[in-house]
Formats: sequence, structure tokens, C-alpha cells
Amino acid sequence: MKSALWMALALVLTAIAPAGARDLAEIKATGTIRIATEGATPPFNYFEGEKLTGFDVDLGSAVAEKLGLKVEWVTLAFDGLLVGLDHDRYDIVVAGHGITPERQKAVDFSTPYVCSGAAIVAKEGGARTVADLAGKMVGVQVGTTYLTAVRDVPGVKEVKTFPKDTDALQNLVSGRTDVWISDKLTALTAAEKAPDAKLQIGDLLYEERYGMAFKKGNDTLRDAVDAAVRDMLADGGYKRISEHYFKQDIRCP
Ligand code: ARG
Repeated sequence: MKSALWMALALVLTAIAPAGARDLAEIKATGTIRIATEGATPPFNYFEGEKLTGFDVDLGSAVAEKLGLKVEWVTLAFDGLLVGLDHDRYDIVVAGHGITPERQKAVDFSTPYVCSGAAIVAKEGGARTVADLAGKMVGVQVGTTYLTAVRDVPGVKEVKTFPKDTDALQNLVSGRTDVWISDKLTALTAAEKAPDAKLQIGDLLYEERYGMAFKKGNDTLRDAVDAAVRDMLADGGYKRISEHYFKQDIRCP
């Protein structure tokens, strides 16, 4: 009886367990690629009403089109995105992930698709430099390189973490924190959108190159995506999307 139950359980588990990462041929056979992002980081990926949009979303969709595929977008919390690749919930993550040696142990990255940096953001008259962070309350999003980096800054009074970057921004605006560390392009957009908040964008803690992430070893897919991005860098497609969201070309030099 016991073993029959176990066998039934094993059967159910096998039926619901996802298969291994889908390579390019398998994805092409289904006609649809699944791309994951966060959907809460304007202007990279965010919702306009019901509609998922942003630089990452337009670029990801354009890559899919180049590969002759439809896209099914999946959104989830930032700190769960890379883990989902390992569980084969989707094929790619496009969400502004900085390429770091730590992350490269877990996933593979495309060639860098954005060059940006971690900016120190405060209200007018507040912290501008790393030295200024001493004694300050700093807010950052969980799962980001900003959190890892700020922990190494000496003298910071307290690091507050938020599930969403927009919450970290709101806490700066409302005065619950003194500093927000985030992507400099996200910060520029936020400052422009809410001039009354009087945001001041200071020094960069470090520069960062963003990569699209793949399950480790999914080389056929990664190579095809790299080629599609290269095409768009050359044919003006990348520039058009970038200027639409940032009024500048954010490609790596
Ligand atoms: N660039 C930072 C990192 O790699 C943060 C990215 C935040 N992106 C997002 N969709 N919330 O950790």
C-alpha cells in the first residue's frame, strides 16, 4: 500500500516536473519563447495600466521577432528571476541584471546589452559621494548588486531593503531614508517624472554591464539572442528603442 502511494506520487511529480532547459530548436518547434522580467522598474520594465512595457520588454520582443518567435512574457519579483531559469519556468530573463562573477556561477549571460551604473541618489543637498554615505539610512532593492555593494561601504547607519525598487524610491521621497542606490538611468527618469521630489543624482558607486540571462549551458539560445542583438545594434533597431525610453543610446561603448 505504502509503495503504491509512493509510486502514484512519483508519477504525479514526473508529470508536473518541468523538462530541461529548452534549446533553440525546441523553442522554435513550439513557436513561442518565454521571457521573464520584473515589471516594476521604469523605464526598463514596468506596467502601463495592464500593459507590460519598457526598454527590456521592447528589446526582448524585438529579439523574439528576429528569431521568428512569439513571446509569452512572465513577470515576477526581481529576486526570484534568476532562480526560475534553473527550474525551466522560462527561457530568458531580461531585467537589467548586472553581469557579476557571482551570478555567472548560476546562469549564463548574453553579451552586455546595456552599460549603466549604480548611482547615489538623495534629495537636494544630501549625499553625493561614497564618503557622504557615512551615518546615512540607505534604501535598496533586495536581490540587487546595490545591496551587495552598500554592505561594503563603511559607516552606513542602516541599510533598508525593499522588494521593489520603486518602494526604495518612495521611501527616499517621503524622507524615511536618506539615500537610494539604484540604476542611474532609472534615477534620471524618476527625477524627471517627479521634479517636486527634488532628487539629486550623485556619484556612481560603480559601473555595470547588463546581460540577458539564460540557464547555464543553453548555448544555442544564447548565441541566437546575441546575434539578434548584434543585428539590432547595427540596423538602428536598438538605438530607436533606447532613445524612446532614455532619450539616449545606452549601448556599451
Ligand atoms: N542592476 C542591478 C542588479 O543587477 C539592479 C537591477 C534591477 N532591475 C530590476 N528589474 N529591478 O542587481
